[in-house]
Amino acid sequence: MSPPTPGRGEITREAARRRTFAIISHPDAGKTTLTEKFLLYAGAVAEAGAVKARAGSRRATSDWMAMEQQRGISITSTALQFTYRDHVINLLDTPGHRDFSEDTYRVLAAADAAVMVLDAAKGIEAQTLKLFEVCRTRRLPVLTFLNKFDRPGRDALELLDQLEAQLDLRPTPVTWPVGIAGDFRGVIDRRTGDFVRFTRTAHGATAAEEEQVSAEQAREEEGDAWEAAVEECELLEADGGNVDVPSFLDATTSPLFVGSALTNFGVRHLLDAIVDLAPPPTARADAGGTPRPIDAPFSGFVFKIQANMDPAHRDHVAFVRVCSGHFERGMTVTHAATRKAFSTKYAASMFGSDRDTIDDAYPGDVIGLVNASELGIGSSLYESDPVRFPAIATLAPELFARVRAKDSGRYKQFHRGLDQMEQEGVVHVLRDPNGDPTPVLAAVGQMQFEVFAHRLEHEFGAAISLSPTPHTVARRTDADTAAQFPSLGGILVLTQKDGTMLALFESPWLLQRLETEHPDWMLDPILVEGDERLRP
Ligand code: G4P
Repeated sequence: MSPPTPGRGEITREAARRRTFAIISHPDAGKTTLTEKFLLYAGAVAEAGAVKARAGSRRATSDWMAMEQQRGISITSTALQFTYRDHVINLLDTPGHRDFSEDTYRVLAAADAAVMVLDAAKGIEAQTLKLFEVCRTRRLPVLTFLNKFDRPGRDALELLDQLEAQLDLRPTPVTWPVGIAGDFRGVIDRRTGDFVRFTRTAHGATAAEEEQVSAEQAREEEGDAWEAAVEECELLEADGGNVDVPSFLDATTSPLFVGSALTNFGVRHLLDAIVDLAPPPTARADAGGTPRPIDAPFSGFVFKIQANMDPAHRDHVAFVRVCSGHFERGMTVTHAATRKAFSTKYAASMFGSDRDTIDDAYPGDVIGLVNASELGIGSSLYESDPVRFPAIATLAPELFARVRAKDSGRYKQFHRGLDQMEQEGVVHVLRDPNGDPTPVLAAVGQMQFEVFAHRLEHEFGAAISLSPTPHTVARRTDADTAAQFPSLGGILVLTQKDGTMLALFESPWLLQRLETEHPDWMLDPILVEGDERLRP
């Protein structure tokens, strides 16, 4: 007998105990280590080391994931679920490299908050800045973790200033270090004034021992390090740098934690804040702006497509963020774009290429629908009451290249691969319906082209050549405006699969001039959140 279907009250309760967030960080800042330590603190793994081991076996399963290994970067995004303090935590992985910001952007569409991990010795790096801007566009609440404080680095106050100046985000420290970077003894919890002293454990394999120390004892035992920390806390207090929940939820301040993922220092404070401060899933607005209540019948949207994760089976997985209701494996849902019924018999929770069958899910959870080849990024799914969520906007591409199959005999494979990469959103594919039939690839970063080339060759057996075009900026346009272009030169008009026309410009100055001289022309920026024309 199957268990009874949960009522509305239960759905609301289950949603309230969920936290769905993504970690954004520069490669090497410590995202993998921190993820591993979250699992350790949550009791999901007995000893740290498991995530890397799993990631290692994952990498061995696919050719293009081998490329990740060569580069030491993470291209694929996965979702990981664990429980902590009776809460269900959904951690969405994002690729660290700025070239894959678009992928990060899509993952953030499925998250309710983000944790930004910074290397305390490096502070804000160029790529972090780009990722943060992506976060900002989505107005996601951000928690900040200043990592690697166990080794020599920059002064904590100086890092705070940099954050505020460069990100236009006010950090509000929850914990403050006692001892400088490299001589990190513990943190003052600014909410209570307590000093929490850490003790290293061998290789950070088990939770760091924490000792609550009184102010008097700290003054005696930690001497100058304690005095300096207290003084800095007074400065922060005078400067109004306290945690403020409304402005955190509004993405203008960011509660900050200092720690070391390697030695586990400060990891528990951060994990507690994810439960205590990060918001649970709430009613999500549909494309028309009407919120879909959490306890409405099941609904969700696809934020990521990943094919050929396992080269032995040419599979196609659509990652769905549940927005409302209760999901039960095997239920039939409707694909909003086609109104066709869709069976969810093959639903899985995903971590890399490891998958476990998932039987049910609640708002905030992520499910992987296997062999969902008709679904695309942004596709909405629902049970009974129809809903269509806003499309996930694309970022403005800055790089363009014509793509050809090296071997014309592999024409079919080439086109199959091209369609697949387009559906997954690895690159954008633009075409000229009236001119040169060679497709043009559009990307935010060079590495997207490299992944494209690698996957076409290794998964589809179609080696390609790419010839960059001189264009650097794109705008959405329409036929009337495009009709005015030909005499001007330096502009190429192409069409996306959905019919959207894009004008590519060789120079931003040319675009600027046209915008000034012809305010009536349609030259719209690419990133338009919730735009009707971007509907999937
Ligand atoms: P990423 O996922 O953001 O790319 O970073 P990852 O966790 O893989 O960490 C990158 C490197 O930084 C690793 O060292 C890791 O051990 C180290 N690291 C992470 N957190 C801390 C920290 O708090 N303190 C210090 N000192 N180091 C930290 P590696 O030598 O590249 O790899 P490994 O051989 O240690 O695995």
